[in-house]
Amino acid sequence: MKQYLKVDEWSIIEEEFNPLNHEISESVFSIGNGYMGQRANFEEAYSGATLQGSYMAGVYYPDKTRVGWWKNGYPEYFAKVLNSTNWIGISVEIDGEPLDLATAAVKEFRRELNMKEDYLSRSFTAELASGKQVRVEAVRFVSIARREIGAIRYSVTPVNFTGTLTLTPYLDGDIKNKDSNYDEKFWLEVDKTAAADISFLTVKTKKLDFHVTSAMSYDVYVDGQKAVPENLQLIEKEKYVANAFCVPAETGKTVTLTKYAANVTSRDYGLGQLADAAAEALKAAREAGFAALLQEQAEAWAVKWKESDIVIEGDPAAQQAIRFNIFQMNQTYTGEDDRLNIGPKGFTGEKYGGSTYWDTEAYCLPFYLSTADSSIARNLLIYRYKHLDKAKENAAKLGFSKGALYPMVTMNGEECHNEWEITFEELHRNGAIAYAIYNYVNYTGDQDYLAQYGLEVLAEISRFWEERVHYVAAKDKYVMLGVTGPNEYENNVNNNWYTNRIAAWTMEYTLEVLDDLKSGNPSRYAELVDKLELASEETAKWADIVAKMYYPVDEERGVFLQQDGYLDKELIPVKELDPRHLPLNQKWSWDRILRSCYIKQADVLQGLFFLGDRYDLDTKKRNFDFYEPLTVHESSLSPCVHSILACELGYQEKAYEMYLRTSRLDLDNYNNDTEDGCHITSMAGTWMSVVYGFGGLRVRDGALELNPFVPAQWTTFSFKVMFRGARLKVTVQDKEIKVVNETETPVKVRIHGQEMNLDGSAQALAPSGAAQG
Ligand code: BGC
Repeated sequence: MKQYLKVDEWSIIEEEFNPLNHEISESVFSIGNGYMGQRANFEEAYSGATLQGSYMAGVYYPDKTRVGWWKNGYPEYFAKVLNSTNWIGISVEIDGEPLDLATAAVKEFRRELNMKEDYLSRSFTAELASGKQVRVEAVRFVSIARREIGAIRYSVTPVNFTGTLTLTPYLDGDIKNKDSNYDEKFWLEVDKTAAADISFLTVKTKKLDFHVTSAMSYDVYVDGQKAVPENLQLIEKEKYVANAFCVPAETGKTVTLTKYAANVTSRDYGLGQLADAAAEALKAAREAGFAALLQEQAEAWAVKWKESDIVIEGDPAAQQAIRFNIFQMNQTYTGEDDRLNIGPKGFTGEKYGGSTYWDTEAYCLPFYLSTADSSIARNLLIYRYKHLDKAKENAAKLGFSKGALYPMVTMNGEECHNEWEITFEELHRNGAIAYAIYNYVNYTGDQDYLAQYGLEVLAEISRFWEERVHYVAAKDKYVMLGVTGPNEYENNVNNNWYTNRIAAWTMEYTLEVLDDLKSGNPSRYAELVDKLELASEETAKWADIVAKMYYPVDEERGVFLQQDGYLDKELIPVKELDPRHLPLNQKWSWDRILRSCYIKQADVLQGLFFLGDRYDLDTKKRNFDFYEPLTVHESSLSPCVHSILACELGYQEKAYEMYLRTSRLDLDNYNNDTEDGCHITSMAGTWMSVVYGFGGLRVRDGALELNPFVPAQWTTFSFKVMFRGARLKVTVQDKEIKVVNETETPVKVRIHGQEMNLDGSAQALAPSGAAQG
């Protein structure tokens, strides 16, 4: 764990340049707008350790699978979001000497990510080997209002010399993914032009033919006055264009370069339109000018914050952390394009290939449901709907005669993952996709979604489960063998409680939705039955499986068993382990982990969270008390679920401990891996810990329920939620809960069981209660 960032409620601040922290900061200070993202690399050259990262959403590469021992059913490739053209680059030379913070003496360094208005700024004084000193101030952002545009204002002021400054703004498409399986580069050059007004570079992927065109233009100012660059050189090299020019530099006089870049892709434009589209966006941005673009950015973010801010009083570190999480979620996914999804690292690094995992449905969906228009969350579901045929192909490829198995990891609907215990066995992802449909409909009331799209997905997933379980006469039960539950520290287990439960639940919900549709919309029902070729024997079989699914339990302890045989393990609580053995995934052999009782992340407890309405508090308590002490939380997705359940059970300290583990995970580099990128999907979990955990938010029977309490470490907290067309501001204080409806849309809320109708702009006050339990 490393704590070097300054606590501030609206900003992330680094006040010293330490090359050892640089790659962590490159992740943490990343910027993005849902369409593209950029790690916090330096604009000028940097010869130290760095992960240069510019990512365009949805532009990926099918990198040939690398595996030691091939298994039938493995996918041929792993799709990776591509590290693409570096559009931020500006080389800086002072009388021929390059500015490079790895070799210069750096003073007064400051890097700030302003989360309120979404821009990254950096300033420092550097002394080069020659003794010449420059003061540099740089500001950049990727525009949320004009998604193809990125802009940089880069100022250099000579401190102790007069000489010549050479600036070289460039576009560099000769980029390699760090995670390339065979050390290959994925880009080919298509076209380039270096010109004084607009320079272009078009590159395309070696496979799939994604084209990315980047265009740049710039203006130069000396002490605020527009200047004409001298000795302009137009440079064209393989996959590279640049303009190099000189500016006389005088002590104390500031030379400013404003660089504008547009990045467009063949996902949105025909190949013949790319250059024009880039030029048009670029010209408009340059005409508007840097200050106006920045102002636009602040205004667009003001709207986002109005809808999603959480205010915590009494704990600035917690305040900073929750805003950082909300900020990163909003930077990663905006929901405008239903072909896009959320990679576990967003745009902040390459790990996990930028692909979609069950994280989206299980962790991210609730954030977007509550903080944005329902169309945004709907688009996340549509993404999977569009992949239904691929999911059916995937099931067929693995030998199933029917049904859909969604991939564990995907970019385009095809499976990318190639570890047998995950690819073939971690089937619970199918359940999360079904659960997300329920979650969305329960939250929004959008029943139409089921008739139009959802039911097809549910039915095909149910069919998969039907074939994946089998009946054991001796037990008079259906069992599911050879799976991996959410706890990846155990593979090939029989009857993982969570997987059996979510499978039976999917079938039950599907049957319920079918029934509702039959009575509510008989013609659509008939249409769907026809389309799905749904036979009554099938639905009867689902009902039989629901009734006779096998669930391992320990009657004595009154707990659900994670899987058959779990109790044969040596059950030693984590707190009795020598701390030097932690984290297990770095200290123990895989074999030892697999045989141990230790749980990577919520498994049975994940089920008790999802299906919380079906279990009483005592059941939740017994299971929590049994499993939490055996859980090592070595997935960033784990603490949030525990925090939420702990809140429900009245374990306020535990809840807070778990909350801390999730909320500052990247800011404090808790897992020592932030240099790979931030844990974006678990950030949604942090948001859930506040709103579902401390806020106690649930949706039941069309009403929003709140059972909040203020953690002892805070004075008050407030959050915003959108619900059925209304936006509510919930403020929780020690003695009182205030809910203000900030819109004209009436809404029903239940606070600690007390039902209230909040008509447009009304507010409700209720006495605060301690957590239940
Ligand atoms: C977790 C998975 C998760 C993946 C991506 C793994 O460590 O065990 O549940 O889907 O990370 O976040």
